[in-house]
Amino acid sequence: ERGTGLADQAGDAAAVLSWFRRMRESEPVSHDAEAGVWHVFRHADVERVLDDARTFSSDFSPLMPAQEDVDRFIKGNILRKDPPQHRKLRTLVSKAFTPRVVARLEPRVAAITDELLDAMGGAERIELVADLAYPLPVTVIAELLGIPAGDRPTFGRWADSLVAPESQTGFIPNAERTQAMAVVMREMNAYCLEHIRSRRVRPRDDLTSALVAAEVDGERLEDEEIVGFVGLLLLAGHITTTALLGNVVQTLDEHPGAAAALRADPAGLPAAIEEVLRLRTPLAPSMRRTTADVRFGEHAIPAGTIVLAWLASANRDERRFADPDRFVPGREHNAHLSFGHGIHFCLGAPLARLEVRIAVARMLARWSEMSVGEGAEFHDARGISGARRLPLHVRWV
Ligand code: HEM
Repeated sequence: ERGTGLADQAGDAAAVLSWFRRMRESEPVSHDAEAGVWHVFRHADVERVLDDARTFSSDFSPLMPAQEDVDRFIKGNILRKDPPQHRKLRTLVSKAFTPRVVARLEPRVAAITDELLDAMGGAERIELVADLAYPLPVTVIAELLGIPAGDRPTFGRWADSLVAPESQTGFIPNAERTQAMAVVMREMNAYCLEHIRSRRVRPRDDLTSALVAAEVDGERLEDEEIVGFVGLLLLAGHITTTALLGNVVQTLDEHPGAAAALRADPAGLPAAIEEVLRLRTPLAPSMRRTTADVRFGEHAIPAGTIVLAWLASANRDERRFADPDRFVPGREHNAHLSFGHGIHFCLGAPLARLEVRIAVARMLARWSEMSVGEGAEFHDARGISGARRLPLHVRWV
């Protein structure tokens, strides 16, 4: 019998899901002395945490030693800001990152997907992550920002070290991790700042230039604020969208009937993708810091504590979803929390949905069969639900 703490769990998806199920039932709000955090497992409680930005802050700087490079990176990083600064930054960046800008990308996303598919040269064994699921979102975000495609390996390396630390506890802020992140952030800040300055001198038709020009009520973003946001975009879209694409393929592999139905009529794809987002939640936890003592029933979480709000557990809460463990591709009222909730709701959700819908539609159109082969490897499901490596057998049309 495993203990109830984060460190006691194995990192595979089945073990983590079974931990969530036990905790939702017996200890839905629980103190984890070893990890030094509190966990929240039920849908209603996770939503409460995400909706109350005053009590549950996204700013972890009070818990971390001051570090120049990290502070610069965080300056314009909306994910780590509270109101009222969050509102100012989000309003400004939303002006540049509009649904229209995203919708306009559709043909480019299709073209990049086809280029990646063509590059497979008709092979019947491919590796979905390296061949498609990873390069697609990275190429799209690089193009959107106007960053040279040739620099991709560099920021791929940054993303890997910042977004997918070796162990799950690596996500929890502390002094040691701050030092490790600082090294990467210094390089990233310098790179982004140079790119932003080049656009300030000579604007082009890209998101970076739009950020440089964005203005609300006479307020503009400083270069130093754009640094954090560009850095966040380079990272944010990466591993999560890659994971989602692999998760859709894995789910269709397990449900051949659903795959056949979607191949015949791709109109069902958006709803099926939402259901995969619910069942295989790319980012398992969201993190907050309490700014005051706060009660959940009999439990009192003290001020200044890190809370892990488990999106992946909320998404399987039997109090919220009928038959929560079943894949229902056309599920109604799918109030999953995979893109978060409240003021920090994922700004890239329309882009992620677009990329995955187009990529899966192209795959279904160009492959008459696809099945998962031997040798799949996965991230630690306490952090990210998704494959690092997903070998496929495919048959080309
Ligand atoms: C925020 C998930 C793709 C940009 C978030 C949050 C989640 C999330 C859960 C909220 C975190 C919190 O409240 O603590 C995902 C998933 C994705 C995805 C599952 C893919 C399937 C993207 C993409 C981009 C992006 C493609 C941009 C290109 C952002 C930004 C925020 C954010 C900028 C911060 C918003 C704010 O703080 O106001 N994402 N994301 N995401 N995401 Fe995503």
